[in-house]
Formats: sequence, C-alpha cells, structure tokens
Amino acid sequence: MLSAALATLLGAWIVPASAQGDPKRGEYLAKAGGCLACHTEEKKGAIPYGGGRALKTPFGTFFGPNITPHPQAGIGRWTEADFVRAMRHGTRPDGANYFPAFPYPSFTKIADGDLRDLWAFLRTLPPSARPSRGHDLWFFFGWRFLVTVWKWFFFTPGPFVNLQGASEIVNRGAYLVQALGHCGECHTPRNFLGGPKRGRFLAGGKTPEGKDVSNLTPTRLKKWDDKDLAEFLTTGQTPDGDVPAEAMGEVITNTTSQLTSQDLAAVISYLRSLPPIADEPR
Ligand code: HEC
Ligand code: HEC
Repeated sequence: MLSAALATLLGAWIVPASAQGDPKRGEYLAKAGGCLACHTEEKKGAIPYGGGRALKTPFGTFFGPNITPHPQAGIGRWTEADFVRAMRHGTRPDGANYFPAFPYPSFTKIADGDLRDLWAFLRTLPPSARPSRGHDLWFFFGWRFLVTVWKWFFFTPGPFVNLQGASEIVNRGAYLVQALGHCGECHTPRNFLGGPKRGRFLAGGKTPEGKDVSNLTPTRLKKWDDKDLAEFLTTGQTPDGDVPAEAMGEVITNTTSQLTSQDLAAVISYLRSLPPIADEPR
C-alpha cells in the first residue's frame, strides 16, 4: 500500500523530468552519430541539417533529407514517436520503409534516453524552408516496398544490449561503435544484396564500389598502440604520416575527433577486445 503510493509519487516526479530530452546532450550525440555530414549539402553557407547532401551508392544517389523543424520542408510536424520509429524501425510516419542508406540498422541500437535527447536537439535547429530532394536510384532499387524483404533478411531492430562479461568501458565503446558511430556500415563487408556479412563484423574488405576499407579487428590494428590510434581518430595522422581516404577523413572531422577523451578511449578499448579476423583473400 505504502510502496504503491510511493511509486505513484515517484512516478509523478520522475516521468516529467525524463520525458524532456536534453538538447545539449543531444548535440553531442548527433556528433557521435555523424548526422550533420549526411544531412547538409556540401557547399559553403549550406544550412546545417537542411538536407541535399549527395550520397553515391551502387544503387544510385541518395540525398540526405531536410531534418530541421520546418513544418513543410523539414520534420517540424513530426512527433517524438515518429522520430523514434524512424530511428529504431526504419519506418516513415506513413508506414513506408526507409532505405538503409540511412544507417538505421545501426541507429536501431541507440538507447531510448539518447533518442529523446537527439530529438530535443533537432527541435532547436533553425528551420530550413528548402524541401528534401528525391533520390536518384536505378530502376527498381527505388521501390521502397522491396526494402521489406531486405529488412527481413538483414535488419534486427532493438536497442543495444551490454556484451556479456565485458567491462563498463568496453561496453561504452561497443555502444559508440555499433549504435551511434555506425562504423560497421563501412567497415563490415557486404554481400551482393547489400547485407552485412555477420561473420566478418568490422573485418573490412572492399566496398561494393571496390574501395578498400580497413580491418578494425586486432589482426590489423595491433600494429598501432593506443596513442597511435587516438592520434589517428582525432587528427587523421597515421604513424607513417599518411592521411586517410576521404570517407574516413570525414568521419574523423565530424565524429571521432569530437568525442570526449573518455569516449575515445572507450572506442579504442572496444576495438582491442574484438576477436581477430584475418583479411579476406584478395
Ligand atoms: C550515412 C548517411 C546518414 C547518416 C550518418 C545519417 N543519416 Fe539520416 N538519413 C539518411 C538518408 C539517405 C535518409 C533518407 C532515407 C530514405 O529516404 O529512405 C535519412 C533520413 C533520416 C530521417 C527521416 C527524414 C524524413 O524526412 O523522412 C531522419 C529523422 C534522420 N535521417 C535522422 C538522422 C539522425 C538523427 C542522424 C544521426 C544520429 C542521421 N540521420 C544520420 C542518411 C544519413
Ligand atoms: C563512411 C565510411 C566509414 C565509416 C562510417 C567509418 N570508416 Fe573508418 N575507414 C573508412 C575507410 C574508407 C578507411 C580506409 C582509409 C584509408 O585507407 O586511407 C577507414 C580507416 C579507418 C581506420 C584506419 C585503419 C588502418 O589500419 O589504416 C580506423 C582506425 C578507422 N577507420 C576507424 C573507424 C571507426 C572507429 C569508425 C566509427 C566511429 C569508422 N572508422 C567509421 C571508412 C569509414
């Protein structure tokens, strides 16, 4: 009786506080998720998150949509539930599928509280009146209902679950890499249907366009110590003085160099803990 009354009281006190996302935290999480790059046109003076960035893939060119709070051109009429459904289930408010060029197969793992903070941050953005541009896809790849089949094979919705037996820091790193950082979207090789090869998680290989992506398991990264790796992820400098390919350069500028030193250390600890996977024979 008393405990029920207490629960009601606590509930009334806790719910309003946690139902409000924290936009400042959300801003940091948006960096950790690399949202800006895909949702901002690549030109001087482009409105942040106003959409228009071209993303070339073997299936055609996608254009990151306007995700500012403009009621017509952006997502100003969305509810928080619409946003959560988009991020966790890859589903539009009208029920159609998103294409996995929007990395929701990784973002599905973002925790509820972090989704709420991301949403609170997006609501603070200056609205852009420019409507989102339609994608330019090859023939039937443009059919959203085909994504249903793709999802059926390759998509497991649901938030990140802590790895059994891993330390707190390794779990934090796993969350940053697998959920927000979506590192696997590039570093896990894909089959001909564009689905990730599960047994080769983060083991690198070739992108469908034939570009090399590095193996992030200890097989390759053991040649670098933690300091080298932190240096690379903050400045892009490798121990031999090389600079990374454009795709990774952008990830470093927008994402990994923006992480707090604790979060960067967590990412490195997690990469160190991965089972070593040999490079695929060329
Ligand atoms: C690799 C590029 C990429 C990244 C990174 C990315 N997005 Fe997107 N996003 C897309 C694309 C492409 C679409 C459109 C997908 C479609 O039309 O099916 C999209 C769609 C969306 C939509 C739906 C918009 C609408 O009008 O229906 C939201 C909301 C969104 N993204 C939020 C985010 C957030 C928040 C982040 C960061 C945590 C993020 N995105 C990171 C590429 C990206
Ligand atoms: C948009 C695609 C993309 C994403 C997302 C991405 N990477 Fe990369 N990454 C690359 C490519 C391409 C290379 C190879 C760069 C080169 O060879 O110059 C690379 C190289 C690296 C390297 C250097 C490895 C070596 O031995 O040379 C590290 C470390 C790395 N990435 C870590 C990460 C982490 C951590 C994340 C997630 C936060 C991430 N990457 C997300 C594309 C990506």
